[in-house]
Amino acid sequence: MGDLLVVNIGELVTPRGSGPLRGPAMSELSCIRDAFVEVRGGKVAAVGPTEKAPRDFPGEVLDAGGRVVTPGLVDPHTHLVFAGSRVEEYLRRARGERYTGGGILVTTEATRKATEDELVELALPRLKKMLRCGVTTVEAKSGYGLAPEAELAILRAIKRLGETVPQRIVPTFLGAHAFPPDCGREEYIDLIVEEMIPRVAQEGLARFCDVFCDKGFYTVDEARRILEAGKHHGLVPKLHADELAHVGATELAAEVGAISADHLLHVSDAGIEAMAEAGTVAVLLPGTAFVIDEPYPPARKLIEAGVPVAISTDFNPGSSPVLSLPFVMRLGILKLKLTPEEVLCAATLNAAAAVGLAGEVGNLEPGKAGDLVIWDLKDWRELFYWFGDDMASRVVIGGEVVWASP
Ligand code: NIG
Ligand code: FE
Repeated sequence: MGDLLVVNIGELVTPRGSGPLRGPAMSELSCIRDAFVEVRGGKVAAVGPTEKAPRDFPGEVLDAGGRVVTPGLVDPHTHLVFAGSRVEEYLRRARGERYTGGGILVTTEATRKATEDELVELALPRLKKMLRCGVTTVEAKSGYGLAPEAELAILRAIKRLGETVPQRIVPTFLGAHAFPPDCGREEYIDLIVEEMIPRVAQEGLARFCDVFCDKGFYTVDEARRILEAGKHHGLVPKLHADELAHVGATELAAEVGAISADHLLHVSDAGIEAMAEAGTVAVLLPGTAFVIDEPYPPARKLIEAGVPVAISTDFNPGSSPVLSLPFVMRLGILKLKLTPEEVLCAATLNAAAAVGLAGEVGNLEPGKAGDLVIWDLKDWRELFYWFGDDMASRVVIGGEVVWASP
């Protein structure tokens, strides 16, 4: 846990508070020109204009050279650990085939053949690329095992990754991602509820329990049973909700007190109202809508209804082979019609809230983690402008520089 003083920051831009932020508050960022950030023992000690920077700082002093600084980005929805590729399916879709989620079983077959060590090795370079994009906290789901040992192997790989990489990794159990080919539907749900959830909880392998509640996948009643069982074992509910069709998954998210409902391409007005009332975070995944070529979720409507909105890559081999959260943030501007302020809030403080960490990460205020990015930019809004260039000059986690561009 480092001591670090970053000085000569051209613009320091950060949301305020311990989130999640809703409505107009998502746009109320703090923007300090010619700023400093002081990190002590891994946590932000002070932030302000340069003339107030501490003198004779005992630790490392980093000159940002007039560049932009933001909080470290938080990616709150990824399927980080899997084996194999789905390039054939991707190319078929590029020629007009529709995405149905059926390819999850192709990835499951490849993932089951991999050892835990191989799964770790496959995920390490992915996390490294995410780090270069300024992503300092990553949620990671299981879901390509679809059997007790295979799901546990993915979660153990996620745990090892968290002990290996500099990023903060938040694990989610998604045994209910699809139905395995080698087990009956009822039998598999019983297995999730009676065996997998208790083992995951007992080994401390996940913080959240997620279900793919959608057309062709888990019904609302099945998802409710699984999420309630998860809650009983201390796993906080999350949902893949109303991505392929409106099935009422968003309403269920609000009903069970899910921390987030994710996707929402086909969310109903009643679902939006229920989320606003329950305080459920909407995790929007425009990279997925882009790749599967479906309509984007109604981001403006969600914000206007008072739902806290977060944004994420949904990194996975099927519907979103995208590691770059900055790329997805640019889609947030262009396709979700969010403002730069809203997108930054959605990828930092509100994303942290979607993984239960808004008290610890997601903005640069005293007491929060010293996780920040120095971007090779002079105007912070250009972060959403230069497609294909991810521009992190330095990435800092807990006051330690963990990535420096060559
Ligand atoms: O979030 N929607 C379900 N799960 C993933 C996609 C999984 C896959 O196609 O492999 C998603 O989009
Ligand atoms: Fe997903």
